Parts: sequence; structure tokens; C-alpha cells
Amino acid sequence: MTEQPREQWSSRTGFLLAAIGSAVGLGNIWRFPAIAYENGGGAFLLPYLVALLTAGIPLLIMEYTIGRKYRMSPPVALRRMARPAETIGWWQVVISFVIATYYAVIIAWAVRYMGFSVGQQWGDDPEAFLFGDFLRAPETPGFMDGFVSGVLWPLLAVWVVVLVILAFGIRNGIELANKIFIPLLGVLFAALVIRALTLDGAADGLDALFTPNWSELGNGSVWVAAYGQIFFSLSIGFGIMVTYASYLGRRSDLTGSAMVAGFANSSFEILAGIGVFATLGHLAAAAGVGVHEVATAGIGLAFVAFPAVISEMPLGGLFGVLFFGSLVIAGLTSLISIVQVVVSAVQDRTGMGRLPAVFGVGGLIALVSILLFPTESGIFLLDASDHFINQYGIALAALVALVVIVWVLRQLPSLQQNANATSAIRLGVWWRICLGVVTPIVLGWMMVDSLRAEFDENYEGYSTGFLLSAGWSVAVGALLIGVILAFLPWPAGGENPDLDMEAPAERKDH
Ligand code: ALA
Repeated sequence: MTEQPREQWSSRTGFLLAAIGSAVGLGNIWRFPAIAYENGGGAFLLPYLVALLTAGIPLLIMEYTIGRKYRMSPPVALRRMARPAETIGWWQVVISFVIATYYAVIIAWAVRYMGFSVGQQWGDDPEAFLFGDFLRAPETPGFMDGFVSGVLWPLLAVWVVVLVILAFGIRNGIELANKIFIPLLGVLFAALVIRALTLDGAADGLDALFTPNWSELGNGSVWVAAYGQIFFSLSIGFGIMVTYASYLGRRSDLTGSAMVAGFANSSFEILAGIGVFATLGHLAAAAGVGVHEVATAGIGLAFVAFPAVISEMPLGGLFGVLFFGSLVIAGLTSLISIVQVVVSAVQDRTGMGRLPAVFGVGGLIALVSILLFPTESGIFLLDASDHFINQYGIALAALVALVVIVWVLRQLPSLQQNANATSAIRLGVWWRICLGVVTPIVLGWMMVDSLRAEFDENYEGYSTGFLLSAGWSVAVGALLIGVILAFLPWPAGGENPDLDMEAPAERKDH
């Protein structure tokens, strides 16, 4: 087998746009505003900033450095640090697999809602329309019940777009798509925020979001929420940034890029908070109620509260197209990165070519997504998988990876040296303290806190049987499958000889 040189981003800007495209996603637009509001409003910005500086950016730098140093996706990169660590890499790959299957579905809903916005098809009860007419959701979750064609078709389209972009590779596919999508997203979103700020009641919405409730800072769960938001939003802990950085040139700057990507993501997030709350302020003013009565999270925010505002305002259809169009674009650029983790891991471990990997592995993710989620109970499955894979997938895998890399393998000094060799901003002892002490403690605390909540009461009041089959099994299954994949006899006896040609001098295994 002849070794193809590893693909590379064409420029630092190309890499940065892709990294920002991955980070800016559904999490920024619908998750951040609600999390900030529920956790102290303006006062939340303090723990949020602390989380960004002590965990977000340091971890981003660590993931960039691992990717760039080993020039491989997580399983092989970690294997090269130490053979057993490959398991953590595969665990992250399976987590990405799971997230991709349902993330695509929310994008498909947003595609449909762009169309619904034009004629405001939800009538005067957007909630009944969403759950009844559109999703046809039953009262209580079933399993693999009837297909919902209104979701199935846009979902197929989303998968075709994603796989075609990935098939064109890093430079001509992912990079080019982000070069088009990210500026477009910037323009759409700026127009949306400007329009939102000129609505009646916008100021009340902003007051509700930003009025600080300082007493919340003494509440541990507010800090846990800030760290959780930073992880999901920056796309750290699920292998994406290791994968993207593995396509960097050997001399590329790492620390500066991590700061640019981290601050760009947070700026977008805060802008989204302003746009969303200005809009909710208008909805509350029109309904003559307080902002707290209309402020909801996630699905309720995007697909119930926003349609209500769209119906209420002049030129609402256009506003709807802007909002759902932004969701689609932000979501697509993140989904591309999530699927690339799985594609690239299989390529790196088997030497498989890009096209068979994209259509074989990416096709498998698409198939699972299409079989499970555009069903009547799909929304419940989505909600449970999302909750459990976030709490006991991303965050737990990040904690285990940190403990292993920092404390067991003691890799931080060599990673620090590697990053400093080519970066403008040099890493100091603060970086090692953040990764070795602060972040593991907060993540450990997060685990205890969320497990306690899990056992106190069933998530969203779902039955224990449903949570076991659609939540816990997903989180535990991701780990088990990760372990199995790490010990599979991959082609060439698990040691693809071509991979060794690219092994850096520091390699520790074999
Ligand atoms: N970082 C991506 C998001 O915020 C996954 O949605």
C-alpha cells in the first residue's frame, strides 16, 4: 500500500474557520441563552469566563497539540502516547457517532421550519403544531414506531449534503464549505440580532438576561453549568479538535489559534444570547407577561417560542428564514466536524481511502440516524440520548482523558514543549495547573452533581425502563464499544505500517 501524504488545511485561516465552524453550532444559539438565563443571568458571565479561561482554552490547546504532534485522529494519536490509551480515543469516536445521529435531526427540523416560517404554518399554537402535526409524537415514548415523512426527507437531504462535502476532503470539502458558510452565518446572524434589537420589548429581554443575580455565584450547580456549556460549545472532549488539528502543518501556531477560536465562539454565543432574549422580550411584551414566562430552553425555544414571535411581528417570515437558516448553517458546520472524527479514525486505523470511509462509515451513521430518529418517538429518543451522552459521554471521557494524559502518562511537559516550539503565545505553569488540577476537580464535581440529580428523580420524568434503554444504555454502550474497537484486530495486525512512516520521534509505544 502506498502512503498518501496526509491532507492539510490550505492556510491558518482555513483551519480557524473550520474550527470556529465546528464550535459555533446549535449549542451556541439555543443552549447558551437559556443556560445563562437560568444560572444567574449577568452574573453567569463570570463563571462562564472562568470556565473558558481555565478549562476551555487550555483543553483546546491540549487537543490541538495532540492532533498536530501525532498527526492522527484520537485513537491512533492516543495509541502513540501509550497503547492502552487508544481506548479513550475510540470512546470519543463512538460518542461523536452517537451525537452525529441526532444532531442531524435537529438540523432537519430547522430546514423544515425555514419553509414553515414563510406561511407561518404553525397557526396560533406552535407547540401543538410541533409535537402533533409535525413530529406526531405520542404522549409517552414508544420504540421504533411509525416513520414521520416530514422529518425523514429533510434528514436525508442533510446527510447527502454532509457526506458530499466530506467526500471532497479536508481542503476542497470541509475548508471550502466553512469559508462559504461562516461568513454567511455572520451576515445572517448580524441581520437577525439587529432586527431583534429594534423590536418593542427588546430592552426587557436584555434586562432579564443580563441583570446579575450575584447570589447565584455561591451555588455550585451554576459553576457546573458554566463548565458544561463551555465543553459542548467549544467542541472539546469528543475528539473533534484533535482530528481537525491533525491536518495542520508541522509549524502552525497552536496557542494563538486556540485563543482566536475560543473567543470567537464565545462572542458568537453572547451575540446569540442578545438576539434570543431581545426576541423573547418582544414576545413577552406582546403577550403582556414577564420574560420568565416565555424563556425556555432547547427545542421549546427554537421551535415553539420563536415561531410565536415570528407570527407576531411584521415581516416575521423573513425573520424566521434568517433564524432557522442560521440554525441550519451553524448546525451543518458542526455536524461535518463530528462525522469527520469517525471517518478519520477509521481511515487512520485501517489505511482505507477517503471515499470508502466517507460513504461506508459516514453512510452507517446516516443509516442509524435515519432508522431511529424520524420516528414518532424520535424526539424522546433524541432528548434522552443527548442528555446522557453529554453528561456521561463528553464530560466523563474528557475527565478520564485528562487524568490519563496528565497524571498517568505525564505528557503535559512534552506537549507544552511541542506547542511552545511553534506558537506565539507561550504556555506556562498556569496551563499545567488548569489541566492537571482545576479542570479535573471541576469535572469530577460535575459527575457527582449530575449523578446525584439522576438518582434523585428520573430525567424529564421518563420511565426508568425508557431511561435504561434510551439513555444509560447509550452512555454505557459508547464506552463498551470504544473498548471493543480498541482491541479489534485491525488490518495489518492493528499496526498499519504506513502509519509508522509518519510517527514522530517522540513516539513511545511498540
Ligand atoms: N460545538 C457544537 C455546538 O455548539 C457541537 O453545537
